[in-house]
Amino acid sequence: MADLIGQLQSLAATARGAVAGAADERAIEELRVRFLGKKGELSAVLRGMGALPAGERPRVGEVANRVRDEVEALLGAARARLEERKLEAELAGPPIDVTLPGRRLVPRGHRHPLTRAADEITAIFSRLGYEVASGPEIELDWYNFEALNIPADHPARDMQDTFYVEEGTLGPGPRRGGVLLRTHTSPVQIRTMKRLGKPPVRVVCPGRVYRSDYDQTHSPMFHQVEGLCVDEGITFADLKGTLAAFARAFFGPATRTRFRPSYFPFTEPSAEVDVSCSICGGKGTLPRVRAQGRPDEAGPERAGGSGGLHPPDVRCGTCKGTGWLEVLGAGMVHPRVLENGGIDPARCTGFAFGMGVERMAMLKYGIDDLRLFFENDLRFLEQF
Ligand code: PHE
Repeated sequence: MADLIGQLQSLAATARGAVAGAADERAIEELRVRFLGKKGELSAVLRGMGALPAGERPRVGEVANRVRDEVEALLGAARARLEERKLEAELAGPPIDVTLPGRRLVPRGHRHPLTRAADEITAIFSRLGYEVASGPEIELDWYNFEALNIPADHPARDMQDTFYVEEGTLGPGPRRGGVLLRTHTSPVQIRTMKRLGKPPVRVVCPGRVYRSDYDQTHSPMFHQVEGLCVDEGITFADLKGTLAAFARAFFGPATRTRFRPSYFPFTEPSAEVDVSCSICGGKGTLPRVRAQGRPDEAGPERAGGSGGLHPPDVRCGTCKGTGWLEVLGAGMVHPRVLENGGIDPARCTGFAFGMGVERMAMLKYGIDDLRLFFENDLRFLEQF
């Protein structure tokens, strides 16, 4: 017995020396195999236990366990020491410049022009103190129409050709009325008022909307940005000032705005808002040179000039010679809509507006065909 214990003790002593001298990961691993491995020195000593009388085995086993624990601890400490030394060496070495650009130039993606336009629109309103809100694209008839003062038999429903959803496809659950793909972002007005519960409400809501149209200027899916501002004492003057500031920020500082009377069931009074044409600067005409490069814009009507030294101007195709572009629907929130949103119309007033993102992007970036947005042709997309 004493013999085996002596062997174990000398094994421990050798291990202490050897591990202290181990210079790297590999040396440590070799020592682990040498001392603790299946065919290692500890196993060899333990094999000698078979020859001992049964009464002496526990004592030797105890020492063997202690030696194994000690060697394991030594190896662990040695690994930790190495790690630490490596880290210190890295920190002491030449610094790595993490700001250097990569060597391989990977082409970077970028935002789709519609995303970019919607981001610019919401950024302008967030500078005016608006928050961004959103709502579901699969919407209840109540939010899309009913709560916005458009009852089932109202002729205004014809303004928006709607995709209805068969409720059976939606799974179980309580619902009031029909389910549809929202035809505008205006249902977010009601949802936001109900969520906030009290004024002030100042939100813009970008999002996808759906209508059953499809031609050169209509896509069954398109994008809108809704705006809603409700508080005590909000007036039509606030609406005008806000939209004029927005138009200048989006289309440029010289942009003028014009309000024409219109009708929406959820606003009263309502207006269509025009901005001065971003292409011809509101003149309605373009210099001949420019128009020649873009034959679509050169209508046959000549707006001015008589030949001679200066080539005559031609009609601006974007605003059809009027100098104005219709870009927005807007108005003062109808009292019934405030009520449906849980806000007291006797105490608060508000305004709302809605705009089409495709149209805003086309006017800002000079894009003449709506379908370009959805064809995903890289030659088009890479220009933005
Ligand atoms: N929801 C209207 C539409 O899609 C636009 C609008 C929004 C008009 C808010 C007035 C106020 O045509």
